[in-house]
Amino acid sequence: MADNADSGAAFAQGKHEDGACGEELAMPQHGPVPAHDPAEQGAHEHQYFELRAAGTLVAIEATHGMRPIVLYAGPDLPGVPAKDLAILATRQHAPGSASVPLRGSIINEIGTGISGPSGLVAHRAGQDWAIDLRIEQVQTIGDHAIVIHCHDANVAVASSHTLSIDPETGVLACASSIENHGTDKLELDWCAALCLPLDQRLDRVLSFTGRWSGEFDIETIEAFQGSVVRENKAGRTSHDAFPGGFAIAPGTDEMRGLAVGYHLAWSGNHRLRIDRHSDGRSFVQMGEMTFPGEIRLGRGESYRTPDLIAAWSEDGLNGVSGKFHDYLRGSVMEPRSLSKPRPVHYNTWEAVYFDHDVGTLIELAEAAAAVGAERFVLDDGWFGSRRHDGAGLGDWWVSEDIYPDGLHPIVDRVKQLGMEFGLWFEPEMVNPDSDLFRAHPDWVLQAEGVETVPFRGQLTLDLTKPDVFDYLFDKITQLVSTYGISYVKWDMNRDTNHPGSSGRGAMHRQTLAVYRLFEKLRKAHPELEIESCSSGGGRADFGIMRHADRIWTSDNNDARQRQAIQRGATHFLPLRVLGSHVGPKRCHVTGREFAMAFRVASAVFGHMGMELDLRDESEADLEVLKSGIALYKRHRELIHNGRFLRLESPRQTNLIGCVSPGRDEALFSYAKLETELATLPPRIQFAGLDPTRDYRVRLVWPPHNPSISSPSIVDAADLLGNGRVFSGAALMGHGIQPPLTFPDTGLFYHFESDS
Ligand code: GLA
Repeated sequence: MADNADSGAAFAQGKHEDGACGEELAMPQHGPVPAHDPAEQGAHEHQYFELRAAGTLVAIEATHGMRPIVLYAGPDLPGVPAKDLAILATRQHAPGSASVPLRGSIINEIGTGISGPSGLVAHRAGQDWAIDLRIEQVQTIGDHAIVIHCHDANVAVASSHTLSIDPETGVLACASSIENHGTDKLELDWCAALCLPLDQRLDRVLSFTGRWSGEFDIETIEAFQGSVVRENKAGRTSHDAFPGGFAIAPGTDEMRGLAVGYHLAWSGNHRLRIDRHSDGRSFVQMGEMTFPGEIRLGRGESYRTPDLIAAWSEDGLNGVSGKFHDYLRGSVMEPRSLSKPRPVHYNTWEAVYFDHDVGTLIELAEAAAAVGAERFVLDDGWFGSRRHDGAGLGDWWVSEDIYPDGLHPIVDRVKQLGMEFGLWFEPEMVNPDSDLFRAHPDWVLQAEGVETVPFRGQLTLDLTKPDVFDYLFDKITQLVSTYGISYVKWDMNRDTNHPGSSGRGAMHRQTLAVYRLFEKLRKAHPELEIESCSSGGGRADFGIMRHADRIWTSDNNDARQRQAIQRGATHFLPLRVLGSHVGPKRCHVTGREFAMAFRVASAVFGHMGMELDLRDESEADLEVLKSGIALYKRHRELIHNGRFLRLESPRQTNLIGCVSPGRDEALFSYAKLETELATLPPRIQFAGLDPTRDYRVRLVWPPHNPSISSPSIVDAADLLGNGRVFSGAALMGHGIQPPLTFPDTGLFYHFESDS
């Protein structure tokens, strides 16, 4: 196998690599059977398969000699056999179209004749392009996974399609592999993981867009004809085209209605398309977007797509997000960081930027520990000639000018203060003004003869070169060992516009090499946690989360905008991985000022940290910060392991919450973002509580809210004191009238069941 063979996009569960295990057999429509009847297969007796778990059903028709078809993917239809779905969906000849119904296939390749865009585009120098893959063999892996092997003898191309459903959450993961059996090279221009059929009711799309400091913005696209296409060639997950979205039925909201979420677990380039075919059917396709000629398979070589992940719910958007969160925690992330409470960070970036000085940093570490920090992260600026963003990247040794005694004085003090020590790296990057580049100008990704696009004064290293890979591993591992570093903030601050290596497009291999470097480091340092940062949330996806423990959600610490960014991110990512920091009083990105109580309120629902010069804060504000951190510590178990819910929020508010698995405790955040439309705000109707239980309700944040006038419900229900007990039914069905608060303030409601 050559360069493309090790796509590495193995299933998140890591249990079922293509062909690695499992029984070879064909099954009838109810669960696995021990053998198939070859005579039946020869006669094209239809074979049906059902992957069923945790409220999801994926029904497949996979008959020897025929094309594989996904008959249905969605909420479970209990007891309904796949065969019935095939009959119920029988289509007929329509005037003015093909004489036979065109059913397509699992990736709608061109040879199927299906009208919409194909999920497979490949050829041999313009020949062999009308590929038509027919089933040769079906493997089942337990009750929840299937691998369908296909072949097109005419063009000598084989494929295998793996679909697996997570028994705990019902989340579907699927991928396709293409193998060249011909002598001449096969050019693979596009291969979708799957063409996922969409229920006809799902005619609205939530598309995730954004920009630097404005990640996870949501655009709703109403019913459309043709295609919605999002493409990313930033060389990272990107800020503007998150590889995922939701399709929803009319009337679906956060708590109710049919919804599907889909996501490509990949941190390189990608394409997402939703196509409404002229015959009325719709499909979602996702896959890697490669450069021309980037995937060229020799005889016997194969390419495997990244995984497409999908989840369905009839309980609205939260139903889908909850499945994604559980799946990420249960099947994607390494358990290493999951059982450990998420420590409060202190990050130096917005406090000192490149102005490093040991005395100042020790002072900041002491101030951070005093308010409750548990991990100190030394950001950019500690190495080589890195005194500004135009020099030093690649020179991964401690700067002797700034740190004559190495990092020891600061590391020792941080540890003495009871904190962990974390260090910033940007491993994939190099500044032309660096010793590394001067020694190895050929170590960067570039398309020969093409001008590199200037971007933050840096270039992308070619990690597919073993020397580059080894250099980075050695440098990082040496520092991690020398200083007992338990945390790496791994940054990646430029788009990689036309990455070439040995004359060919190389983003596919580069992305896999990055994953391998993460993995090698984690193996070498089993306790090491890694944060994925990319100018904020530019590399936030389930692909990187197989190797990372935290995302830096955004460089924007504006407490108001942060509410929307984090809310957007929770569609896919759980709070425990979303880094959220208390920023400086005057936000460095927007220039707006926020009170400490609101900065805290916007940081608690996430993996909390701070990123400000604590010496600029008043004593009173430091006290507020300290009590906010204490509040986070008191509730982080609930915030990180509870059921997360977004409530319907009018434009002027953001309402989110977490309910404990036993529904005996909950914490909800009510952030006021704008003034009210009416004179008083509408009642908050909470969700996720047990209607039959009583809950003591209290306001646990902020300690004082100057905008609340008296008398109000705060006095009536003693919300800042002992609180008052109400039934879950009243809190959800009727709701609580919130006090009238100023914009840019936040309240936390805490619910505790006595029973
Ligand atoms: C990026 C990150 C920031 C910070 C800087 C350092 O912008 O998102 O958090 O680490 O790089 O250069």
